[in-house]
Amino acid sequence: MAHLVWKTELNTGIHEIDTQHQRIVQYINALGDARLTNDQKTVGRIIDETIDYTASHFAFEEAMIEDAGYSFVGPHKKVHEIFVRRVVDFRTRFERGEDVLGELHDMLSRWLFNHIRHEDGAYVPTVKAHLQVTESSAERVVKEQVRRELQQGRAGVQAKQGWLKRLFA
Ligand SMILES: [Fe+2]
Ligand SMILES: [Fe+2]
Repeated sequence: MAHLVWKTELNTGIHEIDTQHQRIVQYINALGDARLTNDQKTVGRIIDETIDYTASHFAFEEAMIEDAGYSFVGPHKKVHEIFVRRVVDFRTRFERGEDVLGELHDMLSRWLFNHIRHEDGAYVPTVKAHLQVTESSAERVVKEQVRRELQQGRAGVQAKQGWLKRLFA
């Protein structure tokens, strides 16, 4: 299966986001390669890793655009949520023994570049301006946000620590 190839025009210029997007591309390519193996355990593991990593990226991105005061955080989260639901549905079908890999791979490939170009592209100016004003990096603003929530004992903050670890291990 043809590998997805990263194009420089997909770069947002926000270092952490570009790194994470490129990593997702690697996962999608690994899924494509997994089609060649008949090892269902490996395929299941790669699907899970793709879901986990993508969900971590979404959480990071959502925290970042929230911190920047982006106006469309709600709709952006909704788009992520619907996407995760779709992928989880694939996971369920896979568990039932259906051969979903080709369909899943096609959907991911199409969705990702399209989302990066449009919805992600739309927040870039706001986030960049915010990072410039705060003289900060996306990693720093998000980690700072999680640290504050931790101090406040906010619900769900443990999960955030989990995805931060996954992204910056
Ligand atoms: Fe996004
Ligand atoms: Fe993204």
